[in-house]
Amino acid sequence: MYLTREEERILGGEHGPAKAKALSVVVKVGDALGAEKLVEIRHAHISGISYGTIGEHGVSLLEYLADMGAKVSVETTVNPIGFDIDTPEILDEVGAILDRDFINGQKRILKALRRMGAKLTLTCTPYYLPEIRKLPKGSHVAWGESNAILYGNSVLGLRTNREGGPLALMAAISGRTYFWGLHLDDNRIPFNIFNVEIEKPLNEASAGVLGEMIATMHNELRPPYVKAVFRDEITLREFLAALGAAGSLGMAYIHGITPEGIRGRIEGERYDIDEYSIRRLLEKYMPSSPPEIIFIGCPHATSEDIRRLANLLKEKPKPKIKIIITLSRIEFMRALTNARDSLQLLREKNVIIARDTCLIVSPFGRKGKINVATNSYKALFYLSKRGLNVSLAPLEELIQLATGG
Ligand code: F3S
Repeated sequence: MYLTREEERILGGEHGPAKAKALSVVVKVGDALGAEKLVEIRHAHISGISYGTIGEHGVSLLEYLADMGAKVSVETTVNPIGFDIDTPEILDEVGAILDRDFINGQKRILKALRRMGAKLTLTCTPYYLPEIRKLPKGSHVAWGESNAILYGNSVLGLRTNREGGPLALMAAISGRTYFWGLHLDDNRIPFNIFNVEIEKPLNEASAGVLGEMIATMHNELRPPYVKAVFRDEITLREFLAALGAAGSLGMAYIHGITPEGIRGRIEGERYDIDEYSIRRLLEKYMPSSPPEIIFIGCPHATSEDIRRLANLLKEKPKPKIKIIITLSRIEFMRALTNARDSLQLLREKNVIIARDTCLIVSPFGRKGKINVATNSYKALFYLSKRGLNVSLAPLEELIQLATGG
């Protein structure tokens, strides 16, 4: 691989042992993939920082790096953790088992990341942060967290591969990643057209199953070209999260949304997807019995989700089923300003509002089989893997279930 003088100096240890180590990992992976050079990044986002995901080995690695003096070279944000920092006990209400080891391990992870200079945003939607929205299109970044990668590439025009958490951290420390995959123009040219023919715009549950359908049919690393009408931002987000959960794609070229131009004709096949096939797949996932918990906020909710949920609950009796919504601390603060009444209404309706975390990265579901319903395909995908009974439906239908009509 071609390396610049500066990169040679970093590898030689002129910027300290931690940066040398981090860059050597990035170079090794790039070499294995056949990358010709490295590229400087503008931002990094690290996933896999819940103690439940990385355990003691992960804590030791992060502490080892922090002790070595590792510092991030670019602005670095991080994914959600296993509990709400201020109110860990809030997850008791949904039966998550948080023991002392988990809490201590999680705190050590946060401390090590803070020592390295990462910004503890604790959210899987870094694309809503103002500093990310300001990045010029075409900026190279190194992100872990599949939904963020899909959103960054497909909606914001950023360039990132699907990095694992450790590799995103190495890129953050070295300030570089290998110039390969979705960093290259040619690999961003769409292949195969998916034309979605439906009368009404997709709701978030239908968009989720559409994500599964395309992930299954599109056996290619280049992005699929998707022609579909999404009802709103929430629905688009759920589609991209589903596409990332059900397959290994890092980008979709979405008609009217993806900011890059396309040169020439799109190669591959054309697939027409109709309303019937989406509905048939969604029916397979719809609740067949009343859930015990309704989970909203995967990927992390925004103040718009808060307002929407409050509107649906406004004229209804108190829900008979526990509803939990998860979001970032930053978005919660935003909601305090621009959706204060909605937040208040959710509290009056006993909706659990958890920041910094989500059910998937928390120790939820260890108390045995629980029936969960969600409007997120990604949540359905991961909670089902945990052996829980999970169903999927649009928010409107979930609220009907929770309030008895
Ligand atoms: Fe985010 Fe948790 Fe879903 S990290 S994308 S809310 S699985």
